Amino acid sequence: MVSNSTLEFLKTRRSVLARNMTTPGPSADVLRDILSAATRVPDHGKLAPWRLVVLQDEARVSLGKIAADALFAREEDKSVDAYATSAAQFLRAPCVIGVLACPKAHPKIPRSEMILSAGAVCMTLLTAAQSVGFAAQWLTGEVAYEPSVLQALGGEAGDEIAGFIYIGTATEAPNERARPALDDVVTFGLPNLGSPQ
Ligand SMILES: Cc1cc2nc3c(=O)[nH]c(=O)nc-3n(C[C@H](O)[C@H](O)[C@H](O)COP(=O)(O)O)c2cc1C
Repeated sequence: MVSNSTLEFLKTRRSVLARNMTTPGPSADVLRDILSAATRVPDHGKLAPWRLVVLQDEARVSLGKIAADALFAREEDKSVDAYATSAAQFLRAPCVIGVLACPKAHPKIPRSEMILSAGAVCMTLLTAAQSVGFAAQWLTGEVAYEPSVLQALGGEAGDEIAGFIYIGTATEAPNERARPALDDVVTFGLPNLGSPQ
């Protein structure tokens, strides 16, 4: 069996719930390293079909208010508590990165590949942050499908929010999470032809 520290990290890493995060977040230098790693993802055609919006300090408050206003306008639960929870959602971590998938029209490269590349950005933000000891979690939730939130992040028609990557410091270690058995999700050879090829 091969072993190296990167593989060991990937085999054991875990996300920490955003509600179990606190300060500090990454310094400006570390954040820059995390962002550099995350923009070095596979990207068919070098289209860079994604944008990353770093939310810290007051930007988290402003986006929370936009989100709360939008959800409040269409939710049945119009309680003060629901509004406050929604407005405070981005305050759970000191640093939140909104990742937009920004597919471009292309004669050969399908839109789905550009969305997948944005997913790779999210996953790399997550693993890069976790690799240097930060708590991180990839979240969407209703807010990721809210047009006014997309617009506030600079999204245009056809863009999508791939996720919000919360980054902070864990207040408690996460429990292990059940993972699928390899045999349930991996097939060696063509599954409909029986034995391994
Ligand atoms: C695209 C995407 C969106 C997600 N959105 C949410 C969410 O809104 N709420 C949530 O509890 N978990 C959400 N998750 C799940 C968590 O990010 C994550 O899978 C879980 O915390 C376990 O993470 P780990 O495998 O890194 O330990 C989402 C995952 C993905 C891939």
